[in-house]
Amino acid sequence: MSGGSRETWERWRADPEAFWAEAAGDLPWHRRWDRVLDADRAPFVRWFPGGELNTCHAALDAHVEAGRGDQLALVHDSPVTDTRSALRFAELRDATARFAGALRDLGVGVGDRVLIYMPMVPEAVIAMLACARIGAIHSVVFGGFAARELATRIEDARPVVVLAASCGIEPGRVVPYAPLLEEALAQAKWRPRHCVMLQRPACEAPLVAGRDLDWRDAAARSRPVEPVPVASDHPLYVLYTSGTTGTPKGVVRDTGGHAVALKWSLRHVYGMQPGEVFWAASDIGWVVGHSYIVYAPLLLGCTTILYEGKPVGTPDAGAFWRVIAEHGVKTLFTAPTAFRAIKREDPEATHLARHDLSGFGALFLAGERADPDTVEWAESRLGVPVIDHWWQTETGWPIAANCLGLGALPVKRGSPTRPVPGYDVRVLREDGSEADVGETGSLVVRLPLPPGCLPTLWNDDEGFVRSYLSRFPGFYETADAGHVDEDGYLWIMSRTDDIINVAGHRLSTGGMEEVLASHPDVAECAVIGAADALKGQVPVGLVVLKAGVERDAAELVGELVARVRDRIGPVASFKRAAVVTQLPKTRSGKILRGTMRRIADGAPWTLPATVDDPHSLEVVGDALRGLGYPAEEARA
Ligand code: COA
Ligand code: AMP
Repeated sequence: MSGGSRETWERWRADPEAFWAEAAGDLPWHRRWDRVLDADRAPFVRWFPGGELNTCHAALDAHVEAGRGDQLALVHDSPVTDTRSALRFAELRDATARFAGALRDLGVGVGDRVLIYMPMVPEAVIAMLACARIGAIHSVVFGGFAARELATRIEDARPVVVLAASCGIEPGRVVPYAPLLEEALAQAKWRPRHCVMLQRPACEAPLVAGRDLDWRDAAARSRPVEPVPVASDHPLYVLYTSGTTGTPKGVVRDTGGHAVALKWSLRHVYGMQPGEVFWAASDIGWVVGHSYIVYAPLLLGCTTILYEGKPVGTPDAGAFWRVIAEHGVKTLFTAPTAFRAIKREDPEATHLARHDLSGFGALFLAGERADPDTVEWAESRLGVPVIDHWWQTETGWPIAANCLGLGALPVKRGSPTRPVPGYDVRVLREDGSEADVGETGSLVVRLPLPPGCLPTLWNDDEGFVRSYLSRFPGFYETADAGHVDEDGYLWIMSRTDDIINVAGHRLSTGGMEEVLASHPDVAECAVIGAADALKGQVPVGLVVLKAGVERDAAELVGELVARVRDRIGPVASFKRAAVVTQLPKTRSGKILRGTMRRIADGAPWTLPATVDDPHSLEVVGDALRGLGYPAEEARA
């Protein structure tokens, strides 16, 4: 370990509270905290109790007051609408203060929830910060989800107001949001008082009299409001993420711990300094967008890029290089799948020659396993450090990374390096004992979790304990499996639950199975995540029909694909399914999904001793071959 990384990790280990107290000193608290950590109600802990802070003030006003008002804060680059715009810190503060006034005029107060269903437009960032300004709790929903997913979130979060845009824009396709929102509102048992609609020229939405307001009218009528200091443990936001069933989990983020951890991480993990330009090519609907498009860069006084486009096709595989060069990006963060897409379209990276990337310093990859080929390709083409790092919606910031700001360690491709200060990561066996070096087990983090990680689930303390803390007492269960090597490097290999990562998007196969099982002709089903050269994994469905049902298989599969798209959303990328006569099961009736996945991936597998009918595996193997699995790349 290099001097900086080792020294910092050991400093944290020796006295975590002193370590985090020092990090907290980097923020403009309205009232200093009484204690660093309150663990009296463990496993429910509070960071910096007694402290009062306003995240919007720390992200905007404090920088303006310190003389950063003229620096660019938010750059919107939208190849899908062919527009660019930028807001300086003072401008972003003023626009946010005014929109916060509009929310207050609608009766939104401290602790009220506001649901944000918007694409990658500056108003979405303004909306998040405006909520933070008045102590309202935002919940952003990704645009690629279907109405039913939106309805579930509306019901759970019970927002007073919904903020929406009239449409999102995907390459070659306008996605009208209003019909999805109306359908969700019709399905949900909770009624928000108002919806504020941002009209976009590509597709305007009809407004419902008495309920809906036009965004620009509401902002124009309102007066700017000052930030409201809130308690350190006041929730800043709730972000829903896939759980092991179709019901998503509402990850809660507190105010104080979050600001401390994010500001520290951008400096020390990502190696950024105030005034530099950071770009997280993700979406504000995901945790990466919350943490590293919106909050961390602004808290540190960096310029952040909001990119409404794709790595390829908008217009070509040089899109990322253009954005880096045009806006002076120092560090880019994206999912490996984005680089696989670029590499597939432009293997020699010929587009690079057209852009000046001399100011570019590092590429960070996360959201799914970074395969060594992609890391190697990016390293050799870009000539900058390519850093794989591992984290989750629940933690909100990296658990393991090569901390550039502390002095980089040697890279082992395929490993996100070592735990970041704050995280005591262990590998446990089924019985809770510690695994040996090189032995695969459950990856867990010793409690308490550092600041910034989820303190609980929204309205579900019991679910928080059940989901994360019950299996290995004293530890947070990440639900990832892997091992640690002789140098202390972590290797993250797979999930221990039914979550799959599709193009860096986290999805539950259990949720998809619920949708398939709801089809009137389906008796039972299984959805597995099969390896995919572009998206990392894609879902594949296998269904058994009810006795007596005779259907054209292609037609039925078409209905199943449409059903998943309609109920979960296009983001699920559910496009392949087959009808089979039986599913492989154990004698006790458990479906052998793991074995099916190995067959689909062309990985070695053995006949499980507990299998009820070995012929069922041949049946599934034939069906998977018919769908093109194992895929060519896996066979090679
Ligand atoms: N609103 C509406 N629909 C959306 C959407 C949004 N915000 N985002 C994605 N979709 C749709 C897509 O249009 C696509 O629809 P289709 O089935 O009609 O083609 C579907 O959801 C699947 O999207 P995606 O998985 O993104 O696949 P893609 O083929 O459109 O693009 C990549 C593939 C690799 C280019 C793309 O996934 C990508 O840019 N990934 C970058 C990684 C990333 O942002 N990860 C987030 C976490 S860091
Ligand atoms: P999300 O909550 O969407 O950020 O997804 C978190 C999950 O993505 C983790 O639990 C891992 O399964 C996976 N993941 C994220 N980063 C990595 C990484 N660097 N390597 C391997 N898997 C990762």
